[in-house]
Amino acid sequence: MRILLTGAKGQISQFIKQQKPDNWEMIATDSKTLDITSPASVNNMVHNFEPDVIINTAGYTNLDAAEENQEQAFAVNSEGTRLLAQAAANLGIHFITLSSSYVFDGQKHAPYSESDYPNPLSKYAQSQLAGELLALATNPESIIIRTSWVFSEYGNNILTHLVNHVKDTPLTMPNNKIACPTYAGDLANVLIQLASDRHISRGIFHYCGDKAVSCFEFTQTVFKELSSLTTFNTELLASTEENKHSSLLPAYSVLSCDKLRTLGYAQSNWQAALKRILPEMITR
Ligand SMILES: NC(=O)c1ccc[n+]([C@@H]2O[C@H](COP(=O)([O-])OP(=O)(O)OC[C@H]3O[C@@H](n4cnc5c(N)ncnc54)[C@H](OP(=O)(O)O)[C@@H]3O)[C@@H](O)[C@H]2O)c1
Repeated sequence: MRILLTGAKGQISQFIKQQKPDNWEMIATDSKTLDITSPASVNNMVHNFEPDVIINTAGYTNLDAAEENQEQAFAVNSEGTRLLAQAAANLGIHFITLSSSYVFDGQKHAPYSESDYPNPLSKYAQSQLAGELLALATNPESIIIRTSWVFSEYGNNILTHLVNHVKDTPLTMPNNKIACPTYAGDLANVLIQLASDRHISRGIFHYCGDKAVSCFEFTQTVFKELSSLTTFNTELLASTEENKHSSLLPAYSVLSCDKLRTLGYAQSNWQAALKRILPEMITR
């Protein structure tokens, strides 16, 4: 099976590269080897490699920067996604791409299903939603996976930030933003299974962790684990309702994963993942 992977230096791609089946012949492209905003580059790559599936993990992911650089955010998350979806449609192949729980405005107070009405609060989320709509309009065979709070032992994410946090410095985390953390390795596994599954219906799917928490509760869980592994003063953590991203982030972005679960895909057990990866992370 021939797979074209984009955004190969990103967090989620690391795991796709590690966990891919042996029978996958994969070209893993980064922003230098395949800029997804370039029609010529996308078409040349797809035409020459002739993949069976395109998995797009490339994205403009900086929430704050997207407010200032919305043209770039839309170029990557919307137009880049459209170009890949179109190239896949031209070859009649599957296209899998990622989106975010932030397409919702957080007013619902119950897990969001795929049929709930999106209303993004930030330019980042608007650009992701536009990417979803363009992908589905260009290629009805597209599979869109909305996810949330992806963490792992690699790259810049909330977990690496917390582990690198200086142990004896106070830290304040918001208790008014609630979502389901997702371990990147579990998400990669789902993307691999979806790419291999010839029979799955197309459309939008939600995938995230199996327990909803606030940022503060997630940090508490991480610090509790850390304190069992090393000297760590958990009392330096405080909660707040203030957050520098307050107006850009939905207060509640919990996703219902029932649609994927009925197809046999278990949600990410993020607490088990934390227990597994933290011991190795603190020895680095
Ligand atoms: N992480 C989360 O919590 C989360 C939650 C919901 C949805 N998502 C979505 O999932 C996707 C992947 O997330 P991630 O955490 O793996 O992101 P990431 O670690 O920030 O990686 C994104 C990758 O996209 C690449 N990229 C940016 N512009 C590009 C372009 N024009 N052409 C080709 N590649 C380009 C970047 O390469 P350079 O570094 O070379 O620029 C980067 O390696 C994104 O669409 C993101 O919005 C993530």
